[in-house]
Amino acid sequence: MVKKKVGVLVSGRGSNLQALLDASSDPAFPAEIVLVVSNVAGAFALERAAKAGVPTCVVSHKDYASREAFDAVMDGHLRAAGVEIVCLAGFMRLLSSSFVRGWEGRMINIHPSLLPSFKGLHTHAQAIEAGVKLHGCTVHLVTSDLDDGPILVQAAVPVLADDTPDSLAARVLEQEHKAYPQALRLLAEGKVTVEGRRALIHGPGVNIPVNPAP
Ligand code: GRF
Repeated sequence: MVKKKVGVLVSGRGSNLQALLDASSDPAFPAEIVLVVSNVAGAFALERAAKAGVPTCVVSHKDYASREAFDAVMDGHLRAAGVEIVCLAGFMRLLSSSFVRGWEGRMINIHPSLLPSFKGLHTHAQAIEAGVKLHGCTVHLVTSDLDDGPILVQAAVPVLADDTPDSLAARVLEQEHKAYPQALRLLAEGKVTVEGRRALIHGPGVNIPVNPAP
């Protein structure tokens, strides 16, 4: 099998990167991670990549005068590594529209809410504050609007009466680690087409959300 080459952009602890690394260690997984790029030099995600034998590079946004200049350097690293799919995994910088256009249909992000609810930061606090009974995560194709773009996979968890943002985050994170590899698999296998705002998933049984037990 020819695996799709994946570049992962990170800024922090990298638990979603770890889930992608673990999934791609399976010879049957249709994608391999060939490069991890961090904008933060000390990010723990870099250690995870190194441990898995995956090349890394640090591109600090602080070294560039503009977002476009920073993105262009990242783009150069990704293209030099032959990357075909970009995964954002806790990457905490907004991307310029030219970078997003360059990876249109080939760049995915994981967001810790059931989009389109609770875009932006502090999603678990937002969910508790709103009193929703279900919360979760979304993997979506990246467009130039923040936390928008066609949805590939969602997973839901219950919100419990005594949840704090941290306890809820932990419950959602467990699902993130399942949803992200699932979405990458779909994209790498060419099972995704986009129609308007919707991602259509082709193939049997591939788009089943993970729902809480009744
Ligand atoms: C995750 O909750 C992800 O959904 C959000 O940022 C967090 C990153 O966590 N985009 P990690 O670095 O993958 O552990």
